[in-house]
This record gives sequence, C-alpha cells and structure tokens, in this order.
Amino acid sequence: MNKSIEYKNISKSFEGKVVLDNFSHSFESGKVHVILGKSGMGKSVLLKVLMGLITPDNGEILINNKSLDLAKEIDSLKVSYVFQFSALLNSLSVIDNITLYLDEKNIDTKENRLKKAYKILSDLDLDHSATKNPSELSGGMRKRAAIARSLMIEPDILLYDEPTAELDQINTGIIANIILDLKKAKPITQLVVTHDISFAFAIADTISILEDGLINISGKPEEIKEINHPLLKPIA
Ligand SMILES: Nc1ncnc2c1ncn2[C@@H]1O[C@H](COP(=O)(O)OP(=O)(O)O)[C@@H](O)[C@H]1O
Ligand SMILES: [Mg+2]
Repeated sequence: MNKSIEYKNISKSFEGKVVLDNFSHSFESGKVHVILGKSGMGKSVLLKVLMGLITPDNGEILINNKSLDLAKEIDSLKVSYVFQFSALLNSLSVIDNITLYLDEKNIDTKENRLKKAYKILSDLDLDHSATKNPSELSGGMRKRAAIARSLMIEPDILLYDEPTAELDQINTGIIANIILDLKKAKPITQLVVTHDISFAFAIADTISILEDGLINISGKPEEIKEINHPLLKPIA
C-alpha cells in the first residue's frame, strides 16, 4: 500500500554537533522525492533515522499518520535501504546475496525465494550474472544488484543513498529508469539522496534541499528550477 512519510520535529546531534535541528517535512506517498544537500549536511542520517539505524534525540516519524513503530507492527511496513557502497557480501554470489535475508528468516520456500530473486534480477537485466561474485561485476551492475536485494522484501518505502555516486552517465540513466519504472509498477514511496543535479531532475516528483539541519526549500522540479541556490547552479 502507498505510504506517506512525515518527519515531525526530529532532532539529532552527535557529540554536541547538531545534524538535524527540529526537522519537519512530509513526503507524499507513491512519489519519488529527491533530497539534495552538501556533504555532511545529514542526508544519510535522515535516511538512517527512517531505517531505524539511528535513533533521533527528539521527534517522531509518522507513516500514513501512524508512528513508525506502530506502522511496522500493525501494517507490516517494510522499508529498504540501498546503501551508498552497495554493501554486497563478496563471499557470496549475486543470487545468494539477494536471497540471503529471506533465507535467514526462512521466509517462503527456497524454490520460491529463488524464483522471486530471478524475476527481480531479470527485470534489472542481471539474471545472466546471478552466479557471479559481486567483485566480478561493474559498478553499475553492483548497484543494480543492491537494488535487487532491497526489492526482495517488497518494500513500501525504498531509500537510496547516493545511488549514482560512482557511476558514469549511461549507468546513471539506467538507475534513473529503474526508479521511474518502480514508481509506475509498484505502490512504493522512494526517497533518493544525491549530488547529481541532472539525475535529480530526471527522476524527481519533488526536490528538497537539506541544509542547516532542515529543509527550507522544497517543491516540484519546475518550481525548484526557478530558485537561485548554489547547489542548483549546474542546471542554471
Ligand atoms: N554514527 C555517527 N556518529 C557520529 N557522527 C555521525 C554519525 N553519523 C553521522 N555523523 C555526523 O553527522 C553529520 C552528517 O552526516 P551524514 O548524514 O553522513 O552527511 P551526508 O549529508 O554527507 O550524508 C556529519 O558531521 C557526520 O560526521
Ligand atoms: Mg551521506
């Protein structure tokens, strides 16, 4: 089901340094939301709070107006995170990486897990590389494998941390198409942190700028285009 995300008065400091400063922002369900921000501004922290990897000092996250914990418990909310450096295990083949989580939790039969994984791999044009080791893949293929793994739980919310950071233009375009295809095919809310302005404009329903602990600038791409901000310079 489509899930909206609301950050409500979230604060987070590390050793006295304020990273998120009473941060509030809502992200509409079923859309692709891009978050831009300088390095060190707290973009990864923002995603990790939603993943439950970092506990905020204050505030809460609401999913369809329900607290994150309740949404997980009652609505079986599923959130997936595509890590910046893909974080695939090199000791396992691509297919084993992708089924690993469901294998460990013993969800469904092995046969069905494999069937599902191969379907996802084939959608991402990676089925031919299923038995390879991640180290044998190109950067673009590794990123696709990481996305494939994140799709195995059929997430309601999918978070991407700098998904095109090490990729060339062609692979960046492939990732953009995957994100847009997912939006069409599934009831999924996607949050994408990136530095890449043209990638941002290619995928975004909304673009927001995170600075000084919160989002002050946010809007549709056509609105953001009109704004004079140093981060948006490359498209000007
Ligand atoms: N687990 C942590 N412990 C201490 N400091 C952290 C931790 N995670 C992030 N930070 C600090 O929070 C700030 C924001 O980090 P981050 O969200 O990674 O920035 P970015 O916008 O580049 O993703 C940085 O100053 C970083 O050093
Ligand atoms: Mg980061």
